[in-house]
Amino acid sequence: DVVKKVEDILAPLKLSEEVQKRIREVYDEEMRIGLARNPSRKSCLQMENTYLPELPNGTEEGEYLALDLGGTNFRVILLQLEKGRVVSDEVQHYFVPEPLRVGPGSELFDFLAACIYDFLETRSKLDHKLPLGFTFSFPMTQQDLNVGILVSWTKSFNCPGVVGEDAVKMLNEAIQRRGDLEVEVVAVLNDTTGTLVQGAFLDRKCAIGLIIGTGSNACYIERVDRVEKWEGTHGDIKEVVVDIEWGAFGDNGVLDFMKTEYDQMLDKNSLLVGSFTFEKLFSGKYLGELTRLVLVKLAEEGLMFGGKIPSQLLRPGSFPTRFVSLVEQDAVLKLARPVSSESCFHELGIEHGSDDLKILQQVCFAVTERAAILLAICLSATLMRVDREECTIAVDGSLYKYHPRLHHLLEHYIIKMTPGKKFSLLLAEDGSGKGAGLIAAIANRLRTRKH
Ligand code: BG6
Ligand code: GLC
Repeated sequence: DVVKKVEDILAPLKLSEEVQKRIREVYDEEMRIGLARNPSRKSCLQMENTYLPELPNGTEEGEYLALDLGGTNFRVILLQLEKGRVVSDEVQHYFVPEPLRVGPGSELFDFLAACIYDFLETRSKLDHKLPLGFTFSFPMTQQDLNVGILVSWTKSFNCPGVVGEDAVKMLNEAIQRRGDLEVEVVAVLNDTTGTLVQGAFLDRKCAIGLIIGTGSNACYIERVDRVEKWEGTHGDIKEVVVDIEWGAFGDNGVLDFMKTEYDQMLDKNSLLVGSFTFEKLFSGKYLGELTRLVLVKLAEEGLMFGGKIPSQLLRPGSFPTRFVSLVEQDAVLKLARPVSSESCFHELGIEHGSDDLKILQQVCFAVTERAAILLAICLSATLMRVDREECTIAVDGSLYKYHPRLHHLLEHYIIKMTPGKKFSLLLAEDGSGKGAGLIAAIANRLRTRKH
């Protein structure tokens, strides 16, 4: 009886073949509209031009700075390139405190400039003239390789005064305000683009960059002649990297049919309500919270914890996504005792019985399956657009790296959804940092060519 009731509560998280098919159709349609010239309505997929007309060609040389903002870690990186290879990289992480993440934009950029100063001062490199590649992992409208207008904040950032502004200009201005740095921002990029560039360096077949981390997004190499909205604006350039911004998939309501009560609650309590629908269904910032909401529901229905609702579980954010990965580890290892799952309840200080552990595993299994299927649907559709016989997908992000089953599940579902298509998933760790350095080098090359 309890088993059946638990199944009923988890049922809305299961995506039937029919629902999967519908999501795929909706996604294909949004992609099409996102690339169309004069669409009758706006797509929720931005399908943004990254202004990256070429990938590294093995001639990149010199010393470059990179800044990576938007994921779990903000960092400053110094890269030494030789013949297109990163021969050394020094990385320093800085913590961006919450008041800066939601405070005035100019203060955020002053903070970034202060971090650059600290980084270079510690290394006695303040007088080095350094081009900087800026990984800014948010939706931007790009007008050039070094112009990125912020469309909206996502994830844990919401600084007033930046939406509609050029992030490169704001960073350059913060650098100039200090007056003690010889650094110039020459390129701005999304983390997916950086990951693709780094992936292409590792494997020439790479044509998709994917992030499954705090947020989720992908970019891919598209044929310019298929991007109707840019018709005639690209000269003799044949291919271009398109940033899909699929985190916003569903923001126009096209996914409402599959959203559960948990998804609705999660959105209502989020920092940016009503935006980034797709990302909120599964990405690292939200998967734990989704699990927590399901657990609360199960407890409310008297199906867990002996009918009592543990107060710890009532606090938003108390069940981090890393717990989902831990619980899933038990499913992989199949030990006699589910030690990892136990450790989550232990850390939370929640008393539980063995049935509670089993139900916890069922919940984590359900949210994980849904995550993998949703990702596989969009990846399959993207793969089919890529004009390559064989395609490598470069991936980065904490959820992908630490979830013990996600990689295999993705492979499994993509194979099922795109039979016969040759693909592989390649971890391009710290891709966006390294990619930023490589793109700064490409930007330099393009500039010299223009002059
Ligand atoms: C990293 C990038 O490799 O992946 C970040 O350098 C990016 O900029 C990140 O946002 C995504 O992962 P997470 O889990 O840190 O959001
Ligand atoms: C969010 C951002 C997007 C980024 C992704 C992964 O979806 O809008 O630009 O690529 O997170 O970090």
